[in-house]
Amino acid sequence: MKRLVIVSNRVPVPKEGLRPGGLAVVLKDLLARKGGMWFGWNGTCHPDAAHLPPEIQQAEGVEYATIGLTPAEHRNYYTGFSNSTLWPLMHSLPEHIHFERRELATYWSVNERFCENLLPLLRAEDVIWIHDYHLLPLPALLRRHGVRQPIGFFLHTPFPAPDMLATAPDGGTFLRDLMKADLLGFQTADDTANFIFAATRKAGAIAEDDSTLTFERRRVHVGTFPVEIDPQTFAQTAVTAAGSADLRRLSGSLAGRKLIFGVDRMDPTKGLDHRLAGYERLLETYPRRERQVTFLQIAAESRTDVPSYQVLRNKLEHQIGKLNAHKGQADWTPLRFLTRGSPRPTVAGYMRLADIGYITPLRDGMNLVAKEFIAAQDPENPGVLILSRLAGAAKQLEAALLVNPLDHDGMADALERALAMSPEERRERWQACWNSIANRTALGWGLSFLNILENAKRR
Ligand code: F6P
Repeated sequence: MKRLVIVSNRVPVPKEGLRPGGLAVVLKDLLARKGGMWFGWNGTCHPDAAHLPPEIQQAEGVEYATIGLTPAEHRNYYTGFSNSTLWPLMHSLPEHIHFERRELATYWSVNERFCENLLPLLRAEDVIWIHDYHLLPLPALLRRHGVRQPIGFFLHTPFPAPDMLATAPDGGTFLRDLMKADLLGFQTADDTANFIFAATRKAGAIAEDDSTLTFERRRVHVGTFPVEIDPQTFAQTAVTAAGSADLRRLSGSLAGRKLIFGVDRMDPTKGLDHRLAGYERLLETYPRRERQVTFLQIAAESRTDVPSYQVLRNKLEHQIGKLNAHKGQADWTPLRFLTRGSPRPTVAGYMRLADIGYITPLRDGMNLVAKEFIAAQDPENPGVLILSRLAGAAKQLEAALLVNPLDHDGMADALERALAMSPEERRERWQACWNSIANRTALGWGLSFLNILENAKRR
């Protein structure tokens, strides 16, 4: 039987008291089911890390093989090139791109170290699945070292349009390196089309059809695989959480006001500053909504060493203070902004209680929070999802109120429309969104990618 080897930058090795969320759970289930190993960074930094062999451990039926990073690698590969250059580039946010050649050099060398440490652990029957923008050179490095096993690569972020890609230092090399894989997966049809366009125009690939490229006399399969959640499980989690003490406390504190809810990592791609501005515009344009609403935004701190994240944090702190000071009243705080993350079940409960899910990233590969918000609703009395049209999820959740995340008036109008929406329209919109996610699962997403990967290699 084939063994699955997942390679990703960060490996969520199970730790007591720490419950991984979202995709980490999916990939772990996939590994437990197919039998396999997860290889990558263990999240630690140590001056000797580059000389230490991978640490191998078993947990919950999965083998984890992890390496550490040196402080310089962490600075240049993770904080630097991956998250200060590639992340904003993939999300088409040029004003956030910071590029240093020495960081690119470390990005290559860390990918080489991933490769060297992975090679001795591979077996002939393995299927290798590499994840995300931290590891763009890895398919080519593995091939250069003689790896013949099927290699799949899935990009969780958007894939940018060709002009944007031109800002990537040596973007052509990344395209050629990726095409050493057998299957390349993207979140949306637009991302897939952007990749095919770039690969054929900039890297010499020939498109055989809309899912097959020929590059250096090899077939490369390309496909769209939108990441899914487990809607039924999440719905059940939300129902259970709704009866918890946490939820009763939140509900009591609202004193009958409508709840607008958002939850994200604190990341420049999430459009948090514009989202707050859209909310402020609601209170200015529709002053009767004062005291009728409370906006609860959870924005867990993330990648705190990246300068653009520090700038965002400062900007938000100023904006939050100003909004509450200018719009608040003695017995009403319009915005509750939390930077501490909450446990997943509690978040599921908040979503169920919310009248509006307010999720407006500037750009997002998928945005699973939007799907979770739909899953968490009471079908008889659902909340309204306001979703950025630039999130991958908007391609499926077309019945949400789709907004331009830069248009503050548009977001204010969408909030007003959601607040005033009839129960019939809320149910209709929710039902259409639910239908688009209800029969899919996260595991199904993983299995469909692997199925095509295994067949692609056979062909
Ligand atoms: O969305 C991309 C992603 O890498 C996710 O896989 C991950 O949950 C998130 O960003 C945060 O990643 P990290 O803390 O490892 O930079």
